[in-house]
Amino acid sequence: MRRSNDVKDYIRTIVDFPHEGILFRDVTTLFADPRGFRMAIDQMLHPFAGERIDKVIGLEARGFILGGAIAHQLSVGFVPIRKKGKLPGTTISEEYTLEYGEAIMEIHDDAIQPGEKILVVDDLLATGGTAEASIKLIERLGGEIIACSFIIDLPELGGRKKIEDMGMNVQVLCEFEGL
Ligand code: PRP
Ligand code: MG
Repeated sequence: MRRSNDVKDYIRTIVDFPHEGILFRDVTTLFADPRGFRMAIDQMLHPFAGERIDKVIGLEARGFILGGAIAHQLSVGFVPIRKKGKLPGTTISEEYTLEYGEAIMEIHDDAIQPGEKILVVDDLLATGGTAEASIKLIERLGGEIIACSFIIDLPELGGRKKIEDMGMNVQVLCEFEGL
C-alpha cells in the first residue's frame, strides 16, 4: 500500500495510449489501492457535508465505480448515464463531440424526479463534452445539479470552463498538465 496523502500520487500515466502522443491518466491504480480509493471518495464527498443530495449520477464507465461508492456513503440512489444502446428502458439522448466524430449519451427518462438534487461524478474532465451532454440530460428531466465532481481535470482542454459557463459548480481533486 502506498503512503501518500495526495490522490495524484496514485494515478499512473501511460505514455502513447490510446494513440501516440497521448499521456493517458490511469485511475485503475488509484482504485486498486485501499488507501487511495477511500481518500478519493472521501475527498469527493467533503464539499457536500451537510448538503441535501437526492441522487448520485455516474458517467460511463469509470464514473460508475466512483458514483456507486459515493451513493452508498450518502445512502442515496445511483443512476447511470450510459453510451447509446446500453440502457434497456425508455431513454432520452444527447449527442456530443469526440476527438473524431460524435457520440451519444443516454439516461432512462424516469430516472430522476423533477427538483431532485443531483451530484454528477466521473473520473476525468477533458474537453467537457461528456459532462456537457450529461448535464443537458439531467436538466431535461428536471434535476437540479448541486455539483459535478471529478478526480482529474486537464485544464489545457478547457472542459472545466465549458462546464462552469453552464452555471455548474465544478469540483476536481487534481490537475495534470500535458495531454
Ligand atoms: C473518458 C473519461 C470521461 C471522458 C472525458 O471516458 O472517463 O468520461 O472521457 O472526456 P471529455 O471531457 O473530453 O468528454 P471515455 O469516453 O474514454 O469512456 P469510458 O469512461 O467508458 O472508458
Ligand atoms: Mg468516461
